Amino acid sequence: MALKTALITGGTSGIGKSTAELLHSRGYRVMVTGRGDLAAAGLPADIAVIEADAGSLTDIDAAIDRARQYLGHLDVLFLNAGVSRPGPLESTDEAAFDSLFDINVKGNFFTLQKALPLLGEGASVVFTVGAGEGLGAAMTAAKGALLPLMRALALELAPRRIRVNAVSPGLVDTPAYAKMGISQEIVDSWAREIPLGRVGAPADIAEAVAFLVSDAAGHITGNNIAVSGGIGIHSRP
Ligand SMILES: NC(=O)c1ccc[n+]([C@@H]2O[C@H](COP(=O)([O-])OP(=O)(O)OC[C@H]3O[C@@H](n4cnc5c(N)ncnc54)[C@H](OP(=O)(O)O)[C@@H]3O)[C@@H](O)[C@H]2O)c1
Repeated sequence: MALKTALITGGTSGIGKSTAELLHSRGYRVMVTGRGDLAAAGLPADIAVIEADAGSLTDIDAAIDRARQYLGHLDVLFLNAGVSRPGPLESTDEAAFDSLFDINVKGNFFTLQKALPLLGEGASVVFTVGAGEGLGAAMTAAKGALLPLMRALALELAPRRIRVNAVSPGLVDTPAYAKMGISQEIVDSWAREIPLGRVGAPADIAEAVAFLVSDAAGHITGNNIAVSGGIGIHSRP
């Protein structure tokens, strides 16, 4: 039987990297995109790592071309690349606003559009969404656009038997916080605010993604799994 294949955007760090490692350990052929020092990701040698800015349509085109060459087809597309730029209204300039929407919204939309010819019957798409409040209005709006987008795409692609779902991390201990200048001490202190009493690990999210893309979830589409240790329970529909 042919090995399953997965393309993961933002797969060189944190949640994307953990998901790449998990799917690889379960026999998938995996390609990830990222930026920066790709070699530093330290992924297994047979995971292809390519540089592609999720906010650039040129880079997205090139990444999908590489996926076509390396993987042939896609069983899994994990749209995970994203950035957090928390900040109040007054300090969010146009560049920050555009970058939030380019990477989190436009990038995911066009990555899926361009990857569509590689996604056949039975393929599965997962968005990384996440909580919004407390991160600033622009960030909340950019991430907030993703659930309606995911649900609309789930309906649009259902006739092709392509499933589309989302995972919503709560607070997960990844390098993202150090990149924002938030210390490990502060990250660790968040455990007190989380009903299950601990900050999430990237592997918590990876396991949910692995489930959503598996045959075990074959009748699940248009859903969002919160992996948050209980954060946000009251605000969910
Ligand atoms: N950690 C949390 O608590 C949390 C909570 C809710 C939602 N999320 C979401 O989860 C996703 C993953 O976050 P994470 O915490 O794992 O962060 P992370 O450790 O910083 O990883 C983010 C990944 O995305 C890549 N990336 C960032 N901007 C990109 C771009 N423009 N083009 C291509 N790749 C890009 C990064 O590459 P470089 O390292 O090279 O920049 C990295 O591989 C994001 O969408 C984030 O918003 C995280």
